[in-house]
Amino acid sequence: MNLKESIQSKKLPEHIAIIMDGNGRWAKQKGRLRAFGHENGAKSVKRTVETCTELGIKHLTLYAFSTENWNRPKLEVQTLMRLLVSSLKKEIKTLQDNNIKLAAIGNLKLLPKKVFNELNEVMDQTKFNSRMTLTLALSYGSREEILNTVKEISIKVKNNIISPDDIGESIINEHLYTQNLPDVDLLIRTSGEQRISNFLLWQIAYAELFFTKVLWPDFTKEHLYEAIMEYQKRERRFGKTSEQLN
Ligand code: IPE
Ligand code: IPE
Ligand code: MG
Repeated sequence: MNLKESIQSKKLPEHIAIIMDGNGRWAKQKGRLRAFGHENGAKSVKRTVETCTELGIKHLTLYAFSTENWNRPKLEVQTLMRLLVSSLKKEIKTLQDNNIKLAAIGNLKLLPKKVFNELNEVMDQTKFNSRMTLTLALSYGSREEILNTVKEISIKVKNNIISPDDIGESIINEHLYTQNLPDVDLLIRTSGEQRISNFLLWQIAYAELFFTKVLWPDFTKEHLYEAIMEYQKRERRFGKTSEQLN
């Protein structure tokens, strides 16, 4: 039996989120510039989207650029933005052919106009697609997202649109960038770092975490199968005892 066949379709994670890390180190190992790592990282994105679609994953969220990444050298930021525009242009057809909806979370207003426009164009063209939602976290920071949520809810309370008693988890969910997405089931981080780096802090409350040493450009279908198989072996108890689950 091959790896793919050993994945049980009934216990698939509904929402996979990935911190795609290690492009720079991958390039350095090869004596190349960081940009070369990012270009090959884009190939991994394509592969991963294809694999998730084939498997029947409903939601895939990829951390592509953090609020903190704005502090990188200007040239690297430019390279990443340029790569984003070219990938969006190149992949729109694949998204359409595979019935994939593109979404984005983050402080998108900070993106260069070209990126912002291209992104909106692709999101608009794919908005009725329903096989899988591919969400790009761009200029995304979880603390900023939570901060915005608090501000928006406070304004509604001030204007008597909602009462403080109404504020529950669902109100908070509705105001986060991820409003239409279910909680993350499986969070993967590549490159050996074992940290969250300001990604989806609220949404990963009960996610299963999977860390791998593999650098993002080297992340293959088989690595994804491995992460999902590991996920399927775990018992998600949500605070209950093992006996209660059976
Ligand atoms: C991930 O790879 C891509 C982004 C954060 C945009 P890195 O660029 O962080 O690669 P390393 O961590 O330096 O190897
Ligand atoms: C996290 O990677 C952000 C993305 C993958 C887009 P970083 O490489 O920026 O994370 P830190 O700074 O090492 O934690
Ligand atoms: Mg990194």
